[in-house]
Amino acid sequence: MSDDNLWYEGIPFPKKGYNTEILRKAREALVIKDEDVLIITFPKSGTHWLVEILCLIHSKGDTKWIQSVPTWERSPWIETEPRFASANKKEGPRLLSSHLPSHLFPKSFFSSKAKVIYLIRNPKDVIISGYFFWSSVNFAKKPKSLEQFLECFLEGNVPYRSWFDHVHGWVSMRERENFLMLSYEELKWDTERTAGKICQFLGKKVEPEELSLILKNSSFEVMKENKMSNFSMMKSQYLVHTNPLMRKGITGDWKNYFMVAQAEAFDKLFQEKMADLPPELFPWE
Ligand code: A3P
Repeated sequence: MSDDNLWYEGIPFPKKGYNTEILRKAREALVIKDEDVLIITFPKSGTHWLVEILCLIHSKGDTKWIQSVPTWERSPWIETEPRFASANKKEGPRLLSSHLPSHLFPKSFFSSKAKVIYLIRNPKDVIISGYFFWSSVNFAKKPKSLEQFLECFLEGNVPYRSWFDHVHGWVSMRERENFLMLSYEELKWDTERTAGKICQFLGKKVEPEELSLILKNSSFEVMKENKMSNFSMMKSQYLVHTNPLMRKGITGDWKNYFMVAQAEAFDKLFQEKMADLPPELFPWE
């Protein structure tokens, strides 16, 4: 998968929408403010879902914002070429997204009080979601097969490199007051409780009826139909399929694709690579 990537500091990025100057500026020059809220994930971990929830928390369940502004403008990806400028221009408290590993993240963040929500997902589901996503878009190299994509993922030869390193880098900050670590799985299994946790972390009070609207309007079914959230606003030259984002939205889909030997080999590697972290950080089976 390496040929069609843009390499920066040993990390592969999609070729379209990224350039090394912006990646350098994001690290060196972007000023993260105390009042900013940052969503950080490895790609395909449920980023857009979390953006939708945060937008709806902000609007107390009202759908005007999510139905009139695309996700990537509501919460710009700071490291991408078109969104870096939008992120810089935004005034007041900003919602910002990023897939950057911690060592390439804006330096200014580390001395700020900006709040970070780091969302993780079972990497086997990240692989399946990634395989279908990168096969359905035209801004990065397409995987040749699931088997090849799995191999690339294990070698860190996929956009944003190694899931294992990404998680290690960010999770080391989990004791900080301005850091909330969540998983796609807990969000899926108990969305209401997890949304409540997010509100508490952000210091936002929402009434029960507002919470119901937040849950309803960020559900998979509603997001899938919202053209501001489902990628259908993306330029058609970037898409192979019209809706590559809202695929299944479930946990454990890897079971439909991994062979037993692949799953066993992956689990062994996971145990080796993540042995230094408490298993309760990873709630999936
Ligand atoms: P699948 O491909 O497994 O369906 P990201 O936003 O980081 O690119 O992640 C995309 C994944 O999040 C996709 O997973 C997508 O279906 C899932 N997703 C997006 N919105 C969701 C929602 N409201 N509920 C559950 N899953 C959602």
